Amino acid sequence: MDKIVIDGGRRLKGQVEISGSKNSALPILAAAILTSEESVIENVPQLRDISTMIKILKDLGARAHQEGNVVTIRPGDNINHVAPYKLVSTMRASVCLLGPLLGRLKKAEVSMPGGCVIGARPIDLHLKGMEMLGAKITIEHGNVKASAKRLRGADMYLGGPFGSSVLATANIMMAATLAEGITRIESAASEPELVDLANFLNSMGAKVRGAGSHLIEIEGVKKLHGTRYKVIPDRIEAGTFMVAAALTKGDIRLKNIVPEHNNALLDKLREAGVGVETNRTSARITYRRKIKPVDVTTLPYPGFPTDLQAQMMSLMTVTQGISVITEKIYPDRFMHISELNRMGSKIHLEGNSAIVAGVKRLSGAPVMASDLRASAALVLAGLVAEGRTDVHRVYHLDRGYERIEEKLNSIGAKIWREKE
Ligand code: UD1
Repeated sequence: MDKIVIDGGRRLKGQVEISGSKNSALPILAAAILTSEESVIENVPQLRDISTMIKILKDLGARAHQEGNVVTIRPGDNINHVAPYKLVSTMRASVCLLGPLLGRLKKAEVSMPGGCVIGARPIDLHLKGMEMLGAKITIEHGNVKASAKRLRGADMYLGGPFGSSVLATANIMMAATLAEGITRIESAASEPELVDLANFLNSMGAKVRGAGSHLIEIEGVKKLHGTRYKVIPDRIEAGTFMVAAALTKGDIRLKNIVPEHNNALLDKLREAGVGVETNRTSARITYRRKIKPVDVTTLPYPGFPTDLQAQMMSLMTVTQGISVITEKIYPDRFMHISELNRMGSKIHLEGNSAIVAGVKRLSGAPVMASDLRASAALVLAGLVAEGRTDVHRVYHLDRGYERIEEKLNSIGAKIWREKE
């Protein structure tokens, strides 16, 4: 297994090109099996999660391959409805195969995702939505089995105890494109990745309206066709580099982004005193003066994303004063705290709020990544810490950040990979 080593204390300066969105690309790749025809999907990042999805699609009987950032999928006429446990169990996002399989084949079998380090992650809303479309759902031998003679459009409310669900909304949107009649999803998730998915589906001939709002309407059609589509930029990767600029007292221009997708973060960075300039497809983040502590609460979009909570915490560890970071999407998503504290930060947890008392400096240490975004937070902390930081279990990072060492080194970091 690899580890990432960082020699900290360098100011980052320069330009970074942001990759395509992992969380957009995953459901879009799954949605491509709603037709037998070929689709070509551009701006797909080269990441472990993406290659897992491609392997699953191949296992289902589709032809699929990635060349650079372009994925070509030709599902053909003989798709199998059972997603293989061995692959599915390595990636929770595989649950987004349920919708397209059910839509296209009227049956689907995908292994039930278990809990993970960021907490229990139920799929009741996915199942409720599919039942509303007329599917019969059973859980057998650890697998979710869904089947229907026909899918019928329905009105449904998909809000849960933590608000809307991104992938539950995606699943129902995908299945409903081939249902009879109209489906209305109330309390739908409004994340940009869902707008991207709706645009992709519409380019295949679907009739999805209202994506980006909390009421999505899908008018079922008989058939979808192949398409060519370009995935949106990754707002979480962009946000991670924005935080890196502030943290290292740097000056970074991010290219190929949609700045308004990061409004919640940009607002907090401005409040903290960081320089933010944006135009249509780029942003420049500049350290100006001593950063002020800010309080952050994660919420569904357009609120502050849970996927940037850990990175923001790294910034607050070296910001003089007290800040409170509250997690409202995954109340247990705080595994990074103990690792950051090993680097000298002063964070303690009160329920689902982390109280961060800023310290003057962090010191490099060996640390263990627990999940994807926690790994990013540890890399960020390593960039500003004194001396050497070794981030172990780096495979988490490879699930979500394309060429991260190359990108960071190109703007002045000193970071490399070593075999353990
Ligand atoms: C997606 C993102 C993930 C991000 C998350 C929240 C992908 C591939 N992953 O995950 O990076 O952290 O959104 O922005 O896009 N919930 C239920 N019942 C359900 C489904 C979810 O109670 O059936 C709860 C979850 O436990 C969580 C909240 O709803 O508390 C939001 O989760 P959800 O939006 O579903 O996350 P994902 O779509 O799995």
